[in-house]
Amino acid sequence: MNTIKSLSRLMLTVGIMILVISCGRGNFSEKPPIHLNPNMDSQGKYKAQSESNFFVDGASMRTPVEGTVARGQLREDDAYFLGKDAAGDFIMNAPMAITSDMLERGKERYDIYCTACHGVNADGKGKILYYEYPIPPANFHDERIKKLSDGHMFNAISEGWLNMPSLKAQVSVEDRWAIIGYIRSIQQN
Ligand code: HEC
Repeated sequence: MNTIKSLSRLMLTVGIMILVISCGRGNFSEKPPIHLNPNMDSQGKYKAQSESNFFVDGASMRTPVEGTVARGQLREDDAYFLGKDAAGDFIMNAPMAITSDMLERGKERYDIYCTACHGVNADGKGKILYYEYPIPPANFHDERIKKLSDGHMFNAISEGWLNMPSLKAQVSVEDRWAIIGYIRSIQQN
């Protein structure tokens, strides 16, 4: 008797398993798969730039509390980050020694970010001239440009200068100094 019972139980279990496994296998469905334990799949959350009716200004993204400084972003060194001394004047020379690695990096970055306007030869004859840019970009071999302080050049890259756009979003602070080092090196030729 017992053997028949356990045999029929086994057959039932196997039957159910086959049913479960074959259920929906290979069938195409537009519906999302059945998720028995959804855990944190559908939690309430805000997506970037989305609206919120919780905050008074209706925006889900919050501005940082005034004076907050993210780790590693304390920019206290004016010479390095602004090209200015304590009195707010542009520094004459870059605040670090220019190494050959920096020159190499500077050339690479110059070729990417400056040549379109200032030209491969730094003579201000970049491709942009074909597109009738209103003011010709500076020629780095001009005596006037040669005499500009490193701080002024740094500021020109960071904030833009007259008809030149700001490139601070594209070129990191470290790379700006490397580019200036590179421009100085070609100005000597
Ligand atoms: C979109 C074109 C454009 C790009 C890109 C560009 N510049 Fe310029 N730049 C100009 C123009 C135009 C001027 C002249 C501005 C004027 O006198 O109105 C200029 C002027 C300058 C000056 C002279 C500022 C002065 O006091 O006369 C420096 C230095 C300079 N650029 C550096 C750079 C460096 C370094 C890069 C690359 C990181 C760069 N520029 C990228 C267009 C550009």
